Amino acid sequence: MRRRFLMCPPEHFAVEYAINPWMDPAAGADRALAIRQWEGLKSAYESLGHEVNLIEPIEGLPDMVFAANGALVAGGRVYGARFAFPQRAEEAPAYRRWFAERGYPVHEPEHVNEGEGDFLVLDEVILAGTGFRTRTEAHLEAQEFLGRPVVSLRLVDPRYYHLDTALFPLDGRNVAYYPEAFSEGSREVLRRLFPDAVLATAADAAVLGLNAVSDGTHVVINIEASDLQLELKRRGYEVVPVDLSELRKAGGGPKCCTLEIRGDN
Ligand code: ARG
Repeated sequence: MRRRFLMCPPEHFAVEYAINPWMDPAAGADRALAIRQWEGLKSAYESLGHEVNLIEPIEGLPDMVFAANGALVAGGRVYGARFAFPQRAEEAPAYRRWFAERGYPVHEPEHVNEGEGDFLVLDEVILAGTGFRTRTEAHLEAQEFLGRPVVSLRLVDPRYYHLDTALFPLDGRNVAYYPEAFSEGSREVLRRLFPDAVLATAADAAVLGLNAVSDGTHVVINIEASDLQLELKRRGYEVVPVDLSELRKAGGGPKCCTLEIRGDN
């Protein structure tokens, strides 16, 4: 099925503050290389037949390339973001405006949440992360606004500070995840909901291999996540490896750069 994605070119990308353990402002990042790698991701989507929409990057917002954090869109309704750190606060209204200008109903949230970074939409439920960024109050707020059941999951490892760094949907019914990123109770929830899940290794997680995008057939995934790629192939998925090493220096991968615009699905 053809997907519609919103992406933001990394024209102003930089690592100039540290709000997660991946970021080292002293080491910085190579913006020109980040742009080339991001273009590679965009073409990967386009060659799979997906539509890529763009939002204008804003100077002074170096993390705006991580479009997943800009909102949560389900059934054509847009639940806006409210960032945990002031460095990213101004991204939220920019993404809300993008959707409002195109006629989408947009909810300005009361509670801190980082969009699809912490909310992942499946057929029957939305999985929602908490522990580092998104608050549980936002899980309830999103459930009320979208009218879909939200399942809260607790993240416990600061390297996996967003749900989308530790788990990705393979399709509407199954997921891949790194168990150690979750609390004991949340691991049990995941085992119950997804007995047939793909479990990732520590090495896969450490290269942000779980920050992947699946359309149900193809999985766009960081090239370094080798164990996970093998397992996905074994399960019949077509693996599309991408190199986003520069963006990883800010703690992001393919999924972070991608906000899915979900219409009726
Ligand atoms: N530097 C960004 C931050 O810490 C990275 C965001 C990654 N996005 C994501 N969806 N995990 O906020």
